[in-house]
Amino acid sequence: MSLSTISLRSLLLLSLLSLHVSLNAIQAQTYPPLVNGLSWTFHDFDCPNLESIITNRLRQVFQNDIGQAAGLLRLHFHDCFVQGCDASVLLVGSASGPSEQAAPPNLSLRQQAFRIIEDLRNRVHRQCGRVVSCADITALAARDAIVLSGGPAYEVPLGRRDGTTFATRNETLRNLPAPTSNTSVLLTSLATNQNLNATDLVALSGGHTIGIGHCTSFEGRLFPARDPTMDQTFFNNLRGTCPALNTTNTTVLDIRSPNVFDNRYYVDLMNRQGLFTSDQDMYTDSRTRGIITSFAVNQTLFFEKFVYSMTKMGQLNVLTGTRGEIRANCSVRNSGNDFLSLVVESQGGDLSGF
Ligand code: HEM
Repeated sequence: MSLSTISLRSLLLLSLLSLHVSLNAIQAQTYPPLVNGLSWTFHDFDCPNLESIITNRLRQVFQNDIGQAAGLLRLHFHDCFVQGCDASVLLVGSASGPSEQAAPPNLSLRQQAFRIIEDLRNRVHRQCGRVVSCADITALAARDAIVLSGGPAYEVPLGRRDGTTFATRNETLRNLPAPTSNTSVLLTSLATNQNLNATDLVALSGGHTIGIGHCTSFEGRLFPARDPTMDQTFFNNLRGTCPALNTTNTTVLDIRSPNVFDNRYYVDLMNRQGLFTSDQDMYTDSRTRGIITSFAVNQTLFFEKFVYSMTKMGQLNVLTGTRGEIRANCSVRNSGNDFLSLVVESQGGDLSGF
């Protein structure tokens, strides 16, 4: 047997082995049961390149600005918690009233995140036709935001359809807890509105391992005096960033590794360096403290629980089958906009200049 045959064989063996290892890594993950209408293979035939179109584009976007990963992750969370993962958060206001987007918790969503989703939709629809929903694209973008920031790789069940209505301001406020909430409020809110438990709360809050917050979201912990559950040096630094009430400054959510999806956020909490009351109080409350410690000392455990809870979150009140629609433009519903969407589609415009 020639040397080149041997090396070809070992190369083949090696690549089979690494494929086996990476498949196992994904299979080792436990997922919650899928809701009716979603499936792991939903777009395998009508849009086989869906995931690579999204991942390749986001890789470029994040190379330019990794902060956009946090914006996309938060967008999916805000979509799912209000009226389910139906892309209702992407709809702009109409004659029927101000949009979900205009409700206070959504005002700090990154405008760029909306543009990135629309650009992805355009790329996907140009290649596959109008078969993939904005809700599915948002879920895949959130997953890639996590993976490309160093987090766990996981599969996303697909088949969501887009809603034709958006939530009211009050409904949005009722479903998205404020950063001033304590753990009791959070646990009740998540159990009542989203059927999520304490482990889900702690795991999903781990999303705060990337991204930023505005001073107005935590200034109540700085003025008139230091929140006693906040570390003194952390407080001194935050007072430098937010010297007075109502400034427009921002700071990172995870001081140890602000752009990396890892378990350091939980180490922050153990050191009393969580930014929001909603973060730090989970370490004070005995119902969640142990979960935080377990994630702080074991990143693999955090990743497993995070993926499980994200998959639960990503299936909240989804529209499937013949319910909802596949929007031709993520910011407007199709009905009454057919002409407009045809014009936009035929331009075949590249929105990459956002
Ligand atoms: C449990 C209740 C939660 C509360 C009270 C909360 C609150 C907040 C607030 C106030 C901000 C900063 C807004 C600003 O000042 O600009 C923020 C940012 C963020 N949140 Fe949450 N959040 C929660 C859960 C989640 C979940 C479940 C995820 C995702 C799994 C998440 C992901 C993010 C990310 C990535 C950012 C940074 C966004 C950016 O940099 O643009 N949050 N959150």
